[in-house]
Amino acid sequence: MKERIESLKKEFEQKLSQVRELQNLEDLRLSFMSKKGAIQDLMKELSRIPNEQKKEAGAMINSFKQEVTARFEEKKEELNRAAEKLLIESTESYDESMPSDLLCGSYHPITLVQRELEDIFESMGFDVEDYKEIVTDFECFEAVNIPKFHPARDMQDTYYISAKNQLLKSHTSAAQNAILRKYGDRLKKEGRPIRAVFPGRCFRNEAIDASHENTFFQMEGVMVDKDISISNLIYFMKTMLSEVFGREVTVRLRPGFFPFVEPGFELDIQCLNCGGSGCPTCKNSGWLELCPCGMIHPNVLKLGGINTDEDLFEYTGFAFGLGLTRLAMMKYGVSDIRVFNEGDLSALCQFVSK
Ligand code: FA5
Repeated sequence: MKERIESLKKEFEQKLSQVRELQNLEDLRLSFMSKKGAIQDLMKELSRIPNEQKKEAGAMINSFKQEVTARFEEKKEELNRAAEKLLIESTESYDESMPSDLLCGSYHPITLVQRELEDIFESMGFDVEDYKEIVTDFECFEAVNIPKFHPARDMQDTYYISAKNQLLKSHTSAAQNAILRKYGDRLKKEGRPIRAVFPGRCFRNEAIDASHENTFFQMEGVMVDKDISISNLIYFMKTMLSEVFGREVTVRLRPGFFPFVEPGFELDIQCLNCGGSGCPTCKNSGWLELCPCGMIHPNVLKLGGINTDEDLFEYTGFAFGLGLTRLAMMKYGVSDIRVFNEGDLSALCQFVSK
């Protein structure tokens, strides 16, 4: 039996060394391992040898069987690697050292503007917060003084989700209540003002044009402390905008209605695209609505756990809702908002960080 196995081993190794393709390897395996294969023949021989030799012979057959299996797997691996290499070599492949027309690998312009603003606000002592995109009706509307069936809900054509009274947030103000609750205790115990910005994606069922998208970004900001006034609001807005544009920009404040601020303003920026003479970006008005803002309504501060009925004005604050996408348009001279969501690399790869 020993000689028989040794000779089969040699035969197997010799045939294995000639195998070049997976199919031939499989044929070889079957000729040794199948029901009609060489190893099965050995098992048949085993039944014919004297009982006292059976144990040793059985062990030899088993060990041969294991060896054939292991060598088969090794060879299979080797052939697979070779086939892969051949495929890579024969395929026209990507060469990262080749010069490209596209400056790919840059951040999206809105990300660039968002990060720049975060840095500016952080340098002014603001915390940067992240917030969900799916929110409840309470967060988006009721907590910011827009009760159910209030006509102000019509200002934002909202995408509702049928489950659990949820919706895609139509403005970043949806995070106000959570932020006031998060930092309220610290304000009262340590006297540290609440200063936070929270950028985020917003969704509205808009008729899309050069300055309106159904998916766009805003950055909300709040500051709450004792004796916060409109002058604080104007100071922070002006500082932020001159930092972003690296020069004085022309802005105007006009009254604006938002149920969550009183008084409320629209802060408009003179269109940098046309210098105020009128173009499609600014709908020929010379101005772009950029940053609505105002003093936080007492109801919002109360619902956020900041003031109580006993003193509705113990703490005051301002809030603003900056249109990040519109700001990116102004900053980079993009005349059509659709460029940002179209995913056209030749357009998007032109924006690089400062
Ligand atoms: C709001 O969303 C208020 N939550 C903002 C606010 C916050 C006011 C805090 C007061 C205090 P409004 O709907 O106007 O407001 O949107 C704010 C900004 O988001 C706009 O000025 C504009 O720059 C941007 N924006 C609004 N809708 C779109 C849109 N469809 N596409 C692109 N940008 C938009």
